[in-house]
Amino acid sequence: MEKAENNELLQGSQKNFRSVNYENLVSRKNRSFVCFCLGFLVSTILALISYGVVHGMFPWFGVMDDSKYSWIDETRSKSETGGKCQKRIVAYHDLFTHEKLTENQLSKLTHLIILPLHVQETGILVFENDEKKGRFEKLVSEARKYPDLVTMFSINNGYDNHETMSKVIGNSEVRRSFIENVIAAISAYHLDGMDVYWRWPQTDNDISNLILFCKELREKLSALAIRSRRKMSFVISAILHHHPVSANFQSIFDYVDFVTIETRNYYAPWFEEFQHLTGPATPLSSLYGERRDENVDKSMTEYSCLGKQPSKLNILVEFAGRYWENVIKSDSTWWMESEVANGVTSGGWMPWWKLKRSEWNISSASWNNDSKTPYVWNPMERKYLAFENERSLEEKVKYAMDHNIGGIAVWRIDHDDEQRTMLNSLSNLCSQSYRNNASSLSYYCESAISQLPQLEPSIFKNNAPSGIH
Ligand SMILES: *[C@@H]1O[C@H](CO)[C@@H](O)[C@H](O)[C@H]1NC(C)=O
Ligand SMILES: *[C@@H]1O[C@H](CO)[C@@H](O)[C@H](O)[C@H]1NC(C)=O
Ligand SMILES: *[C@@H]1O[C@H](CO)[C@@H](O)[C@H](O)[C@H]1NC(C)=O
Repeated sequence: MEKAENNELLQGSQKNFRSVNYENLVSRKNRSFVCFCLGFLVSTILALISYGVVHGMFPWFGVMDDSKYSWIDETRSKSETGGKCQKRIVAYHDLFTHEKLTENQLSKLTHLIILPLHVQETGILVFENDEKKGRFEKLVSEARKYPDLVTMFSINNGYDNHETMSKVIGNSEVRRSFIENVIAAISAYHLDGMDVYWRWPQTDNDISNLILFCKELREKLSALAIRSRRKMSFVISAILHHHPVSANFQSIFDYVDFVTIETRNYYAPWFEEFQHLTGPATPLSSLYGERRDENVDKSMTEYSCLGKQPSKLNILVEFAGRYWENVIKSDSTWWMESEVANGVTSGGWMPWWKLKRSEWNISSASWNNDSKTPYVWNPMERKYLAFENERSLEEKVKYAMDHNIGGIAVWRIDHDDEQRTMLNSLSNLCSQSYRNNASSLSYYCESAISQLPQLEPSIFKNNAPSGIH
């Protein structure tokens, strides 16, 4: 009965979305130039409409009045950590993919983050097209069958959105309207929260604006939870880059439920710098070469010491491998280098499901006991593959357990094989024998955070292109 009612409401809200016609508004605006002679009345109406668009006052993606919030879930009994599991198993799902998520997958997750809803410069949220909107609606209603699963949306699928976010979040008017639109999307689709993926805040100003946004969004969502008599609070998360860790990020932990650290981009052949260094996307540790100081352990130490709440952190992993060609023979095969010709290293990446069927014989892989990841070195063809597998994921689970890290996030879940080998390797995160202890810190913090840098612009250039979308 209740389910039927919810469905009706969901359909009702979808109707609202459909009836909203952005193109109409735009073309009406254009016509106003042509029909300028119609004069004052028309332009006044249009001015009101555009004011409404900018400030999110129309219900088309839009803001609804308070009375309409009351239908949001009153009965779901999940907690932010997903109820059944002490730790988070977070999956990012890109609407770009045609692959559907199965019951087998959804039942093993604590959090599902669907993306992207695009942010426009006026603070409006849109789907790229109707097809993606359709996929979104379908997946959200599928996810609702799992009462413990926290379902959220994110705003980016791995591309730089720095300029837009800087404008939207940096301007208090636009930011307010953006927040209204976020609330509207959460309400209309019965979502549990939002993942804030700004890639990347670059200046101290950006960082304080991001934190201000999280604070204001938290206030609005808390008010919404009370109005709608929702038992559990809404969830806010953010993705932050692994490097550099600015001391200014500290207070973001007051407003978000968790922060996923972008720990899946330490090595890649498509980097501008360090492209010649072979290595896994996500090394637990690295004691070699120019990147010896950049690895999961270092990043988790810094963010744990900064926020004093390691249980709010997620390690981000990919179900994939990265390969280099023209690799130079060396004494140790744990860390190798490849030739750079005309400023470019040849190489690429491959999702896990494809690796298993590729010419890379991954069953013959060796083990890098430093990064705790497998690799395949082919000396005949001088090709090198560093990748993630069951064992390396189990090592990361163990690391999260030992260091009180809150969970592991996967970018992206559809890179798994049909047996869901990789997702299954994360299941120990839900092991009952483990007791979460957010107050304990297992890092030596004094030296770790005494010299955290202040951010400077352009510091991220080395990670600008992302190989995996
Ligand atoms: C892959 O490697 C394993 C272990 O080294 C070996 O037994 C097997 O024959 C190899 N398969 C292929 C197709 O080369
Ligand atoms: C791998 O490293 C761990 C410590 O990180 C060490 O205890 C273990 O003995 C090493 N194993 C090998 C085979 O070197
Ligand atoms: C959590 O860690 C603190 C500090 O190490 C310790 O005093 C406390 O007993 C721990 N609590 C639990 C439930 O393990």
